Amino acid sequence: MKVDVLLGLQWGDEGKGKVVDVLTPGYDVVTRFQGGPNAGHTLEFNGEKYILRSIPSGIFQGGKINIIGNGVVLDPALFKQEAEALAASGHDLTKTLRISKKAHLILPTHRSLDAAYEAAKGAGKIGTTGKGIGPTYTDKVSRNGVRVGDILHNFDRKYAEAKAKHEQTLRSLNYTDPTLAEREKEWFDGIEYLKKFELIDSEHVINNYLKEGKTILAEGAQGTMLDIDFGSYPFVTSSNTICAGACTGLGVAPNRIGDVYGIFKAYCTRVGSGPFPTELHDETGDQLCELGHEFGSVTGRKRRCGWVDLVALKYAIMIDGVTQLIMMKSDVLDTFDTIKACVAYKIGDEEVTEFPYEIDDTIEPVYAELPGWKTDMTKMQSEDEFPEEFNAYLDFLEEELGVPIKIVSVGPDREQTIIRYTEE
Ligand code: GDP
Ligand code: IMO
Ligand code: MG
Repeated sequence: MKVDVLLGLQWGDEGKGKVVDVLTPGYDVVTRFQGGPNAGHTLEFNGEKYILRSIPSGIFQGGKINIIGNGVVLDPALFKQEAEALAASGHDLTKTLRISKKAHLILPTHRSLDAAYEAAKGAGKIGTTGKGIGPTYTDKVSRNGVRVGDILHNFDRKYAEAKAKHEQTLRSLNYTDPTLAEREKEWFDGIEYLKKFELIDSEHVINNYLKEGKTILAEGAQGTMLDIDFGSYPFVTSSNTICAGACTGLGVAPNRIGDVYGIFKAYCTRVGSGPFPTELHDETGDQLCELGHEFGSVTGRKRRCGWVDLVALKYAIMIDGVTQLIMMKSDVLDTFDTIKACVAYKIGDEEVTEFPYEIDDTIEPVYAELPGWKTDMTKMQSEDEFPEEFNAYLDFLEEELGVPIKIVSVGPDREQTIIRYTEE
């Protein structure tokens, strides 16, 4: 058996949570492989809305096994909040959710460091989610991290050593965090709470599942353009969000990867700082933001909006080895007269179609223009109902991107999802 991977192809918030939930009935196991509570994955069904941060989006489909993999960074205090809120709404996860012992813990001081580093960067700040993601992955790579499995082995000593180092750095940055003492208390409550869950050697468990013939879906967080190696560095997150991240974040060999589902919005958004060639600073941008309710699900920050960027999408498809595309939020474009898609970047006198090293404000997007469909798509049930202009937009994208679009999403609800016919 193989592990199928689902990941974002843009700058995050493509709609991964919704689609993982839709695809989960076809899988035995769902697992997160990187990121942490910087993610906010939204699911809507039966009139209810849930936002998941560290917990995989497969938890609502009838007792499937869900795993937080070794590549994830976990904040026990936020995890406790998230799991307790789910338990209160009737979703007790203690029997179905397992956590890798090798996942790294986000310490209270990691969040202080995140804030301190952002403050030190001033105008050049990344615009992080403030969840301590960067400092935690930094400690992992510099071999100073504390892992979930350490809870069971000399934990107090390991915690105290890490905290002392962080405090030294905070002093050198002249940064005091008045919330630290209170957060530390909640954090230790979170550590106790984690013990209710099965803490596992996830690489063995996952590979044994594969041997037993179980089907596994790996859920990405963030998006390819936020990848630490291939994203718009330094305005990226601190993990490998790309398909290869599923191998290192789960302990699965590359030849065990099956389908790669690449998700993108029919337009494009970005939250936080950093380059965004197709960003619109005009009325159309405001319209996309308003119609798409483009405000961060975790931070509430306004997302920057623009047209779909095929130069960046092609790059993401190449890096991820995408086998099937999923287009989200098509309905947001329902009222537009004209739809634009960036097919090249104009840099000086040159037109470039390969995503370049340097992305700055001098890049001018070159757009293809297609007629809008001017039809409400939100109640559509099958592709037979698609307007002609929408089909033309799909054909154009498939031709440009070279990968079939297998799923189209026409609204936030689980039911507003159209699986297209497969051509053999
Ligand atoms: P994720 O981080 O990739 O899981 O995406 P987010 O949950 O952060 O952001 C996606 C937002 O779009 C959420 O508010 C979803 O409820 C919403 N959404 C998902 N698919 C659609 C869609 O097809 N149409 C509309 N209008 N909203 C959608
Ligand atoms: P989901 O999984 C959108 C962005 C932040 C910032 C940069 C670094 O919901 O798609 P970090 O806190 O990770 O150090 O922030 O990455 N970012 C996201 N943007 N969706 C996300 O997750 C994001 N997670 C981080 O805004 O620009
Ligand atoms: Mg999100």
